[in-house]
Amino acid sequence: MPKPSDVPKNRLWLDYTNLMADVVGTRHGVTRAALKSHLQRVRHISRLLKKQRAEGALAFMDLPYQEERVREIEAYAQRIPKTIDNFVVIGIGGSALGNIMLHTALNHPEYNLLPREQRGGRPRMFFLDNVDPDRTASLLDALDPRKTLFNVITKSGDTAETMSNFLVARAWLMRGVGKKNISRHIVATTDKEKGHLRKIVDLEGYTSFVVPDGVGGRFTVLTPVGLLSAAASGINIRRLLAGAAAMDEICRTDNPMKNPAALNALLHYLLDTRKGKNISVMMPYVHRLRDFADWYRQLWAESLGKKLSLDGKRVNVGQTPVKALGATDQHSQIQLYMEGPFDKVLTLIGVDRYPKEITIPRTFARMEGIAYLGGHRLGALIKAEQDSTALALAKNSRPNCTVTLPHLNAFTLGQLIYMYELQTAFAGALYNINAFDQPGVELGKKYACGMMGRSGYEPFKDEVKRGIGTGRRKRV
Ligand code: PA5
Repeated sequence: MPKPSDVPKNRLWLDYTNLMADVVGTRHGVTRAALKSHLQRVRHISRLLKKQRAEGALAFMDLPYQEERVREIEAYAQRIPKTIDNFVVIGIGGSALGNIMLHTALNHPEYNLLPREQRGGRPRMFFLDNVDPDRTASLLDALDPRKTLFNVITKSGDTAETMSNFLVARAWLMRGVGKKNISRHIVATTDKEKGHLRKIVDLEGYTSFVVPDGVGGRFTVLTPVGLLSAAASGINIRRLLAGAAAMDEICRTDNPMKNPAALNALLHYLLDTRKGKNISVMMPYVHRLRDFADWYRQLWAESLGKKLSLDGKRVNVGQTPVKALGATDQHSQIQLYMEGPFDKVLTLIGVDRYPKEITIPRTFARMEGIAYLGGHRLGALIKAEQDSTALALAKNSRPNCTVTLPHLNAFTLGQLIYMYELQTAFAGALYNINAFDQPGVELGKKYACGMMGRSGYEPFKDEVKRGIGTGRRKRV
């Protein structure tokens, strides 16, 4: 691992001890020999990714360095009128999960309940990333259009769920503030020229931000997609990007043993393809990181779950990412992870110091069964549970690794985000698939467009109709 002098202060660390065969056994862990035999390939991938980056093909890797965009976003966030009390993100998938993750990780856990002055005078935050009518209608029921600003986010500018919620919100604003005022209540984030949202922006004169070219949806959290709502709620987006840049520095080495993104990709790849660990469970022991696991789920699933290899062979690869939360899910999932099928690798995420600490009161001194808790900090309890789980998993031959942040803030979260994005790129190369497309999402979208009457999609509508109505459906 790098010497302390080579690395920034406040960096995260990946502990992969319990992924190795000398701890969990050769049947379930990675042997030193297997690791060693793949290092040359990973070195080669590292050089390949650098070349692709230099050619502009991996735009996500340069997102930590976007000074001008950051200035524009900060300026906009500062201009949000004091009359605006609600900031509603409308988006889905990569155009929402990163926003939600930044908010829950870095803002006060009860941010929306705080009085406005304790929110730094900033609006409450809401996220509309589904088209369940009850959810959309209920949110609008609870808000006042005169005090509400919508950030509609869609890279393609065409996504049915996002555009439908946007059209509903726009009509609601028209009724509430009048047509001539709606542009003050909408800010769009979309492609610079493509898609219907861009056309509407031009027609109606909304303020807009651009999703940079060449950055796929699930890699956009560090573009205006994620940064605008973050800045609007007071998150220090410069520190976030500085953290990502620090991880970029750490990962510039071609030596996989010093590069946490490359090494973690290799270990997960080997565990999946050689040891049958086709499920990757992410289990933060930091309540604020529960939505980081959600964001990771999309990143890992959509990037690596692929039918075809780069050379067109049918491979059907991909680890299934599963989200869990420590310590909560110790009382729900851990039984399965300890004793169920040997098909999982776990990642625990912890912090050295929690943003807030609290001491358990010393009471009921005569009740042995609970008295021992008194005087301990809750942070010590959750940490003890995390360490005990890692050890117990290892004892049961369950490979697991731990990522530790010194504390949770914009700088360390930026590192974590960048590490996982880069790890995904390394993993894509190891599986020899394209980690940056999502052809499997398309067919379902086409059927939905057909059913909703989009012109040009009639064959899909017919296919759905044939599928339903022919007696082939089985019900009970
Ligand atoms: O990662 C992806 O590409 C997807 O999850 C997209 O982000 C999602 O489908 C939303 O797409 P868009 O931003 O075009 O509305």
